[in-house]
Amino acid sequence: MSVHIGGKPGDIAERVLLPGDPMRAKWIAETFLEDAVCYTEVRGMLGFTGTWKGERVSVQGSGMGMPSASIYTHELINEYNVKSVIRIGSCGALAMDLNLGDVIAAIGSATDSNMNRTRFDGLVDYAPVADFGLLRKAVEVAEAQGTPIRVGPILAADAFYTDRPDLYDSLADYGVLAVEMESAAIYTIAARYGAKALTILTVSDHIKRGEAMDSAQREKGFTNMVKIGLDTAIA
Ligand code: ADE
Repeated sequence: MSVHIGGKPGDIAERVLLPGDPMRAKWIAETFLEDAVCYTEVRGMLGFTGTWKGERVSVQGSGMGMPSASIYTHELINEYNVKSVIRIGSCGALAMDLNLGDVIAAIGSATDSNMNRTRFDGLVDYAPVADFGLLRKAVEVAEAQGTPIRVGPILAADAFYTDRPDLYDSLADYGVLAVEMESAAIYTIAARYGAKALTILTVSDHIKRGEAMDSAQREKGFTNMVKIGLDTAIA
């Protein structure tokens, strides 16, 4: 096992879906995977391996925020030989033409996190980006499934609650579609250790319009996103 994951070497597939919420990892394993086995319960951050359309896939909770997501991404790649990680999660929309339930693929991730400033001594504003091959597959898969998918940049924020909505307005002016809290770290760590990464999100709330999904909308929206993530992982 690694420091934060209880699985043995070989317990985790080369392709991993990475939801923030460990209970969503469980729901995905139970709802979509065949023969799913739980390989870790360390800190309640559940991880499962099973098969999707006959291919081995794992789904691992990452927790909320970049420090937590960094830990799981780092250990999956470096300790378990994971080759591709696909974050699936929710986001708050900034773009006025996005609606609740819409699915987004994050081509790149701006961030207010200090993690990459520390990494590059404050000398470079590193641009965390998706793996192009995974992004292209996700778009093809979404089209084949009949689910519209919007590709664009997002913000990975350190704080869920902000005192600076004006910054969100400025980011929207620069084409940033939505806000979540993990993608920049996942993209950066995957790049650093030679793995592929992508973030696929469902709009769960609209920050500018003050709207939020109810639970029925969440389940249906997340089902579309999970199917895109799984088909992309095995493509
Ligand atoms: N994830 C879902 N909604 C979010 C929001 N409004 N801000 C940050 N992360 C989110």
